[in-house]
Amino acid sequence: MFETLFTPNSSVETNVNIRLRKGVIIGAGQVGMACAYSMMIQNCFDELILQDINTDRLQGEVMDLIHGVPFVEPVEIKAGTVADVGQNADLVIITAGASQKPGESRLDLVVRNVAIFKKLIPDVVKYCPNATLLIVSNPVDIMTYVTLKLSGFPAARVIGSGTVLDSARFRTLLAQKMGIDPHSVHAYIIGEHGDSEVPVWSKVNIAGMPLYDREGSSELDNAALQEIFERVKNAGYEILKLKGYTSYAIGLATTEIVQAILRGQDRILTVSSLVNDFYGIHDVCLSLPSVVNEKGVIKMVNLTLNDREQQQLIHSAQILRNIFDTLAL
Ligand code: LAC
Repeated sequence: MFETLFTPNSSVETNVNIRLRKGVIIGAGQVGMACAYSMMIQNCFDELILQDINTDRLQGEVMDLIHGVPFVEPVEIKAGTVADVGQNADLVIITAGASQKPGESRLDLVVRNVAIFKKLIPDVVKYCPNATLLIVSNPVDIMTYVTLKLSGFPAARVIGSGTVLDSARFRTLLAQKMGIDPHSVHAYIIGEHGDSEVPVWSKVNIAGMPLYDREGSSELDNAALQEIFERVKNAGYEILKLKGYTSYAIGLATTEIVQAILRGQDRILTVSSLVNDFYGIHDVCLSLPSVVNEKGVIKMVNLTLNDREQQQLIHSAQILRNIFDTLAL
C-alpha cells in the first residue's frame, strides 16, 4: 500500500519486541461499551478488541469508536474474539451476560449467566492463558467465583469489579453531604456488590478525622447517614428504573481497575476476589480493600471491623456461599 511513499529501512531487526498493551472486552452491550469508551479516552490499551455474539451491532460500535481515534491517543480497535485477533491479551474484561431488568436483583441473573460463562471461559483460557481476567457481569461476586473455578487460573488473576463502584457512590454522596470533593473522602463498601453489601462506617474519614468516634457517635445526623447508605445500595435499582441500565460509572470504575493492573499501580481498590481466612470467611469471592497491580490482587488490607460490621460481612459471605452451593459447575 502506497509503497512509493516510503523507503523501507533495511536495518530493521525482526526480534525487537516491545510489548503492546492488549485488551479484550467480551460483551459489547451498554456496560461493555461504556468500558470501551472510557478505556479508549484514558489511553489504557494499544490494542483493544471487542467481542460480542451480536456481530452487526458489534461492527457498528467498533466503527463508531474507530472514527474517534484521531481525537485520542493512538489505539487500534477491532471487532473479533479471544480465539482470533484477541489471542494472548494481557487483560480480558467480561461484561457479557443477561442484565438486570427492573424488579430483578443481581442474584436473579445467576443461572443464565453461569450458562453463558461456561461457553465463554474455555476459549479465554485456551487463547489468553496469561491474561488477568476482570469480571464485570452480574452478580459479579458469583461470576468471579465461577470464572475462578472454570478457568483454573490463580486467584490473584481473577478479579471482579466488586464494590469499586459502590465505594465511589458512597464517597460521592458523603462528599455532597459535607460539601467537599469525593477524592478527599475515604470510605469503603465491602462484601457483595448487591443487597447485602456492607458500609464500613467505622473507617470513614476525612483528612484522617473519623466520621464516627470510638463510642460510635457522629456530629452528623445518624439517620441522614443511614439514608446515604440506602441510596448507595439502591443506586443500581434507581438508575435501572429511570434509564433501563447503568453504564457510565461502572465503565469508569472498571477503567480504574484496568489502570491499576496495566500500570502496576499498587492501588487499594474494593475489587472482588477469593477471600480465605478473613473473620472466618472461607472460599468466597467478595470485595475487601485489596492491593492491585500488574500481578493482579496481590494482597488484602487486614481491615479491622467493629462487631456489627463483622456480622454484616459474614452474613454477606453466607448469602454468596449459599448461592454458589446451588450451582453445578
Ligand atoms: C450497578 C451495576 C453495575 O450497580 O451493578 O450500576
